[in-house]
Amino acid sequence: MTNSTILPDFKLQQGTFFVQVWGCQMNVYDGDRIRELLTSAGFVETAAVENASIVVLVTCAVRAKAEDKVFNQIAAWRHQQKISKNTVIALGGCVGSELAEEILKLDKSVNVIFGPRTIHRLPSLISAYIQTHEPQVDVNADAIDKFDYFPSSHAEGPSAFVTIMEGCSNKCTYCIVPYTRGDEQSRPVQDIIDECVNFISNGAIEIHLLGQNVNSYHGVMNDGTVCNFSTLLYEIAAIPGLRRLRFTTSNPMDFTDDIIDAVKNLSVISDQIHVPIQAGSDRILSLMHRRYTAKEYIELTEKLRAARPTVHISSDFIVGFPGETEEDFEKTMEVVEKVKFDLSFSFVYSKRQGTPAALMEDKVTKEEKFNRLYKLQNRLEELALSYTQQFVGTVQECIVEGISRKDENELKSRASSGRIVVFKGSEDLIGKMVKVKITSTHAHTLKGELIND
Ligand code: SAH
Ligand code: SF4
Ligand code: F3S
Repeated sequence: MTNSTILPDFKLQQGTFFVQVWGCQMNVYDGDRIRELLTSAGFVETAAVENASIVVLVTCAVRAKAEDKVFNQIAAWRHQQKISKNTVIALGGCVGSELAEEILKLDKSVNVIFGPRTIHRLPSLISAYIQTHEPQVDVNADAIDKFDYFPSSHAEGPSAFVTIMEGCSNKCTYCIVPYTRGDEQSRPVQDIIDECVNFISNGAIEIHLLGQNVNSYHGVMNDGTVCNFSTLLYEIAAIPGLRRLRFTTSNPMDFTDDIIDAVKNLSVISDQIHVPIQAGSDRILSLMHRRYTAKEYIELTEKLRAARPTVHISSDFIVGFPGETEEDFEKTMEVVEKVKFDLSFSFVYSKRQGTPAALMEDKVTKEEKFNRLYKLQNRLEELALSYTQQFVGTVQECIVEGISRKDENELKSRASSGRIVVFKGSEDLIGKMVKVKITSTHAHTLKGELIND
């Protein structure tokens, strides 16, 4: 809904809202549920922040830069007069639970603070603020209670995110997520299946399962027994109408052989497997509390490639972890050469207060850390580009997402490897899976021709 002027007055009395999301796919999922919750409570969404009486900010705290974004954004909107003193500002997501009441001191224009666990209470928190003008802070709840309060989603589109678990109990020493999203908790199997079936009946053909460590999923089945991740994959793969299944994020330590077998047996699982190694030095991995060695990681990728020769393995990397020596960093580069990762993410270590690594001695200079990052990123980019070029001449099964933003005569779709594929075709292909012969590349985007068969 973008044009608020044509809406009935009774709805406008509740207020218009604008949602901005930062951070990972789990936040994107939460942002979509917030839109549905507010809409079903009578609020009306607007696409422009200046038309909103309520602004909802779903934030990320994983690195200092991510955290700063929200406060910079509020300041910029205020400066541009896009928000006024009367705009209700609700700040949630991971910064909400990390800082909670401190936010009221950092930015006095914030009126409502919520966390990833309390998004279902947002409509009542906003209403309570509007009635009382008292700041509302509510960040604590059971991790998976919120799912019981979401209205049945009417979201349409070929691909849908489904969160299968909340939180994380791994406590990698650099990471704030276990403190912002709390301990790991898995949703019951039936709830997940019902949500997938609902999305598929609304037109989705791809389901993307989400969790901070999906491989350690352990939700209950209807009969009370515990279901592990590979069993969940088989259950979801059996839903009629599903054409592709993705999952993020996998932790190497829990990527057991039964999950590798599922990747082998279920062709519906995508070729793109994101399994972050973070670093290649065993000394650093141990300081990070990652609980696998570089050798074990390499063996895992070999097993995955044997199970699925077309697999594209990607990773996240942290460089400049406290105490990382040049020698440690070179071990990361060695693993990169051995595994030959596809499209990956890499970051300079960011100190997060309250995590164990924040207390570790960190002598590496900023300049050195960035030099390492550039070196790593250059090599990762070369590897990814060589994969991109190898697609030329191949035929890819692609899910059509919509019209290309760059050229309205072209459609934008996504291949199993995660690559964007653009090609000429009619709009009625949107939402379908088609075959495209790849003819050229532009950066990491593939261009091709529709194959009619
Ligand atoms: N649960 C996922 C990661 C979630 S956070 C996993 O374990 O793989 C996403 C990525 O952010 C991490 O993989 C890591 O590379 C990066 N990250 C997390 N904390 C960080 C920090 N303090 N500094 C820099 N990067 C960080
Ligand atoms: Fe953070 Fe580690 Fe949990 Fe990933 S597995 S969310 S990096 S603590
Ligand atoms: Fe960021 Fe929270 Fe996701 S810290 S990466 S939004 S879990």
